[in-house]
Amino acid sequence: METSPVLRVDPEFEVPEVQEGQVLVKVVAAAHNPVDTMRVIKAELGYNLASIVVKVGREVKELKVGDEPKKLIFKEAASLPLVLQTAYGGLERAGLSLGKSLLVLGGAGGVGTLSIQLAKEVFGLSRVAATSGTGNLDLLKRLGADLAIDYTKDNFKDLSEKFDVGKHEHKPQHPLTFLTFHGLCEILHRLTKSQDELL
Ligand SMILES: NC(=O)c1ccc[n+]([C@@H]2O[C@H](COP(=O)([O-])OP(=O)(O)OC[C@H]3O[C@@H](n4cnc5c(N)ncnc54)[C@H](OP(=O)(O)O)[C@@H]3O)[C@@H](O)[C@H]2O)c1
Repeated sequence: METSPVLRVDPEFEVPEVQEGQVLVKVVAAAHNPVDTMRVIKAELGYNLASIVVKVGREVKELKVGDEPKKLIFKEAASLPLVLQTAYGGLERAGLSLGKSLLVLGGAGGVGTLSIQLAKEVFGLSRVAATSGTGNLDLLKRLGADLAIDYTKDNFKDLSEKFDVGKHEHKPQHPLTFLTFHGLCEILHRLTKSQDELL
């Protein structure tokens, strides 16, 4: 049997009633994260989407009909939720705070690009180093890395400089934070504000 790579909406699917604490959204863009593969197989909703609020339950105070992303286009917004959650949760779990230093491995990837920006702009770290392939070194610098390491030429294990947090260093006793919708918005606001100031 031939399978289509495109997910289609079932025209027979009934729009659910909105309960008191729920919102109904019209999805404009969705992004695929590896973890979504498992959820699609189980026919569950994915994590990454950007939408417009079309209905809110009576108890919902933080959102209203018509709410949508403001500073980002829908595609950009849809790419962020899970990687942002992962990067933020990781930095928080590592117990990072103002003035500390960090080494990000895979700095040009989804989690890495956000980890660098969050480390500098939200956690206030004094020094952030990151690794990438040769073609992404400029990107690391533009994102705010103080030191960009080419993993095709240098092994991070040979660095003389030591960092407060690097690979495999975290504090498992810190529970992983799950950001609320407003938590995500606040962090995004701080990131986009710092980018506006750079322009
Ligand atoms: N994405 C999520 O939401 C999420 C959630 C939970 C856990 N994770 C985990 O977090 C990790 C990173 O995920 P990601 O989504 O950020 O991946 P990604 O976007 O695919 O990025 C991975 C990065 O790894 C670098 N890389 C590839 N080969 C390398 C090598 N041989 N040596 C050093 N670096 C190399 C690449 O750098 P260059 O492009 O510069 O070559 C690439 O940018 C994965 O282990 C993933 O399972 C991700």
